[in-house]
Amino acid sequence: MTTTYSDSLFHPHAHAYRAAIIHTLDDPARVGIDASYQYFEDGLLIVENGLITAVGPAETLLATLAAETPITTFKNALITPGFVDTHIHYPQTGMIASYGEQLLDWLNNYTFPEEDKFADKDYADNVAEIFLTELLRNGTTSALVFGTVHPQSVDAFFEAAESRNLRMIAGKVMMDRNAPDTLTDTPESSYHDSKALIERWHGKGRLHYAVTPRFAPTSSGQQLTLAGKLLSEYPQLYMHTHLSENRQEIEWVKALFPNQSGYLDVYDHFNLLGERSVFAHGVHLCDDECKRLAESDSALAFCPTSNLFLGSGLFDLAKAEQHNIKVGLGTDVGAGTSFSMLQTLNEAYKVMQLQGKKLNPFKSLYLATLGGARALKLEDKIGTLQPGTEADFAVLDYHATPLMAYRMQQTTSIEERLFVLMTLGDDRAIKATYVMGEAVHTRG
Ligand code: GUN
Ligand code: ZN
Repeated sequence: MTTTYSDSLFHPHAHAYRAAIIHTLDDPARVGIDASYQYFEDGLLIVENGLITAVGPAETLLATLAAETPITTFKNALITPGFVDTHIHYPQTGMIASYGEQLLDWLNNYTFPEEDKFADKDYADNVAEIFLTELLRNGTTSALVFGTVHPQSVDAFFEAAESRNLRMIAGKVMMDRNAPDTLTDTPESSYHDSKALIERWHGKGRLHYAVTPRFAPTSSGQQLTLAGKLLSEYPQLYMHTHLSENRQEIEWVKALFPNQSGYLDVYDHFNLLGERSVFAHGVHLCDDECKRLAESDSALAFCPTSNLFLGSGLFDLAKAEQHNIKVGLGTDVGAGTSFSMLQTLNEAYKVMQLQGKKLNPFKSLYLATLGGARALKLEDKIGTLQPGTEADFAVLDYHATPLMAYRMQQTTSIEERLFVLMTLGDDRAIKATYVMGEAVHTRG
């Protein structure tokens, strides 16, 4: 990395970054691949007061730069928007890679005992720091995040996110049955605790609140009613839960809610669908459920490493596309096995291959950036490098490992280089991460 200074007018808060630059403009499924992205082989990204003011070819933009604007040049590197992880559990950081179970046993044997520890605010504070450091090491600058049932777990998370000036969405788990006593709330306490957190955090700086019923099996109808009530009481709240992940889970939901005709119907019945509702997984959805998701403008989070790790099944991205459902990418740590969105895309590609389908690298980039931002209704702020948006971006290293450096020598197009990054890359491929124009991670 080299920083130089041009020599005419002085703009104290501007900074320019020179490298190859790519960002998506729209969903390739909607506009075709060629119209879906902007790429500058020798590009310049100009940032002022935390916002992007220009992106384009260095050749033209250099001439417009005010004097003494510092220019940071990255060699063998690609600037992308910061990644947007649309589904992750920060309290599961300490139990990622737990052996041998599918969803329901995995929850009982590994997840609940770990989440119990978040009754202790100090424990939660420590994990929140570890978690956010890990996200930024992986180029992820925004995420939709589960806490635990303990309100203090969400305070810990938001305090840590606020001190790093991150755009983050999180919420307290609502869970009043089918879980250990120490991890259950009641409909009333979950309502009041969530409300207090909303008052404290929703809309504060770059933070947003998500009403977070864990999944239908761990909430009574009364609790889901109150979750819907919260959504109706505050503007622009998110709703975050799990949907149709595992076959045993789906049968259990049918038994618990015999009056509803299917899993999505339960959430629909309690008014939990909407333009800021994000459902993780949706691996086993019927056409009617897909239609309802699209009509309500709800989003799905595609979590390939988790779906493979728990043996849940293969997400049908083509079907979601046909139904016009918004889809983001999620790591779903700790059922997911990596914080890296690059590794998550590597597994997404394989999930598609197993279904005889392809995942184009430009579509992959879309899923990890603008697609995620759209799933979260934040595309005017993040997931893109359009002027006027927030300067959250990642610098990817083509030479992160000896193998990547060698493989890159054989590439002839940005499409190929992107695919190599997404297949071989992980945290080592993140040279630097910027949040609101500030370097928050630099690879040593
Ligand atoms: N369904 C309900 N809770 C969870 C969880 O913590 N992880 C996953 N992957 N699925 C869930
Ligand atoms: Zn999850």
